Amino acid sequence: MKRITVIPGDGIGKEVMDAAMLVLESLDLPFEYVWMEAGDEAFEKYGKALPDETLEECKKSDAVLFGAAGETAADVIVKLRFELETFANIRPAKSYKGIKALYNDIDMVIVRENTECLYKGLEFEVADGVTESIRVITRKGSERIARFAFELAKKEGRKKVTALHKANVMKKTCGLFRDVCRSVAKEYPEIEFNEYYIDAACTYMVMDPWRFDVIVTTNMFGDIVSDLAAGLVGGLGLAPSANIGEKYALFEPVHGSAPDIAGKGIANPSAMILTATMMLRHFGYIEEADKVEKALEQVLAEGKTTPDLGGNLKTMEMAEEVVKKLKSME
Ligand code: NAI
Ligand code: MG
Repeated sequence: MKRITVIPGDGIGKEVMDAAMLVLESLDLPFEYVWMEAGDEAFEKYGKALPDETLEECKKSDAVLFGAAGETAADVIVKLRFELETFANIRPAKSYKGIKALYNDIDMVIVRENTECLYKGLEFEVADGVTESIRVITRKGSERIARFAFELAKKEGRKKVTALHKANVMKKTCGLFRDVCRSVAKEYPEIEFNEYYIDAACTYMVMDPWRFDVIVTTNMFGDIVSDLAAGLVGGLGLAPSANIGEKYALFEPVHGSAPDIAGKGIANPSAMILTATMMLRHFGYIEEADKVEKALEQVLAEGKTTPDLGGNLKTMEMAEEVVKKLKSME
């Protein structure tokens, strides 16, 4: 039995979580779900965006399934990643058939460092009108993320790892990250390694995305380029992610609580459903994960989608289509 903490959070987080749970529960796997609260609404209710009981429950579980937080995201999801020491944030960007997107043949994965960089929250107001932020990059943190990226490339049969940084300007922090990536790369002679400055990489990603296979980068750059990569293949409604550490694992879509569409029941559940498949793979349910992904692929290809992808289905209707497809595959 796997114990899974389910945190829907705010806005569309709750809507896409219900959709993903419909799909997960249809699989009838030995999972025990424990629903917990966190986010803006939890803050209103308890004065704490990430209540202690929620954090404790996460630490007792085999995995955390997270929807989205709103304005409290830094105190909830960023904090959870730090607390659970899920140092690797894996964010695949993959094209699906029938989706109107810039590209229809993309398959890359971004490996984002998840515990360091500017997101440590070391920010200070040092004088009136003067603020500072500290960027922390360590050898240990860089080494484990670089190694994780190469191991992932090996495991998934990918050919190339690209490090993104800005070592020409941030000579110490990005310089250390770059040097460590270069030296870890030497341990994997069978995998090609190259590097770009983060700004140039953004142009390449839009104009020639095929040059990327596995990307490894620091926390903030990873946050930004993963949204960019999602934009290449059809948007945030399709972008899942996994946060993996030595002890814990936390699964969440890349998107946030989307207040512009929250409450309308029209959020695309695909990102959350794909996120659930990442959790299934993590637990070794490869066949089940493949089946769910295939079912979703077919639903997308048939145009049975939410409005963000040009369809007219509601969130739950799309999830029901996926379940129907799953049943028809049995
Ligand atoms: P967002 O990801 O919530 O939304 C960006 C745009 O993408 C919006 O136009 C939204 O409608 C669209 N979108 C996102 N997910 C979608 C889906 N599943 N289906 C259809 N359309 C979708 O980012 P935004 O607007 O910058 O932030 C909104 C709130 O979310 C903020 O309060 C922010 O702090 C929070 N946030 C939380 C995150 C988390 O919990 N991991 C991550 C990013 C933002
Ligand atoms: Mg983001």
